[in-house]
Amino acid sequence: GQYTASQRKNVRILLVGDAGVGKTSLILSLVSEEYPEEVPPRAEEITIPANVTPEQVPTNIVDFSSVEQSDDALAAEINKAHVVCIVYAVDDDDSLDRITSHWLPLVRSTCSNSSNADGEPDVARKPIVLVGNKIDLIEYSTIDNVLAIMEDYPEIESCVECSAKTLHNISEMFYYAQKAVLHPTSPLYIMEEQN
Ligand code: GTP
Ligand code: MG
Repeated sequence: GQYTASQRKNVRILLVGDAGVGKTSLILSLVSEEYPEEVPPRAEEITIPANVTPEQVPTNIVDFSSVEQSDDALAAEINKAHVVCIVYAVDDDDSLDRITSHWLPLVRSTCSNSSNADGEPDVARKPIVLVGNKIDLIEYSTIDNVLAIMEDYPEIESCVECSAKTLHNISEMFYYAQKAVLHPTSPLYIMEEQN
């Protein structure tokens, strides 16, 4: 059927997004199940054992910090990741605009510059999950803006609004990221450019 069992032995999730949107807080909230008031610039890479993940697959979660990491290091992490979560802050319109002006084009160009083991260009598009953090700060939703973006970027598998502070939708966010790798719904292998 459409949902075939994945052979994948692990899932590697990378969080990117503008400074201050809450990437590190999201990871530490997931791990400790409480909101960390003080966070380092970058969380250590963590591995979640298979038996505590919904899909029963060991899951690595990788943080990105523009302070601690170079553009080259970011490109290497994008290529290693199986799914990229692009995080914005729902109260920060600039961080939302940067999804289309910076982050989505960066992930696309980084992946199309890479080659697979046979030296062929890698045409697979990296699945993306859009994550709106800090939903505790606003009374409205940004999902309409995000649905418009999803129409232009079929590699976006899902979107979620959450809060590292209240823990709202935190485990869902990481579940959507796992699901984007193990049960992708949109065609991730695009042979022709669509634009
Ligand atoms: P860089 O490491 O600089 O790229 O930032 P980051 O994306 O890792 O953000 P970080 O986790 O350091 O959080 C930035 C600020 O936002 C901190 O003061 C956090 O306490 C705050 N913050 C993070 N998540 C939330 C949230 O869900 N709600 C609220 N109200 N504040 C948050
Ligand atoms: Mg950080």
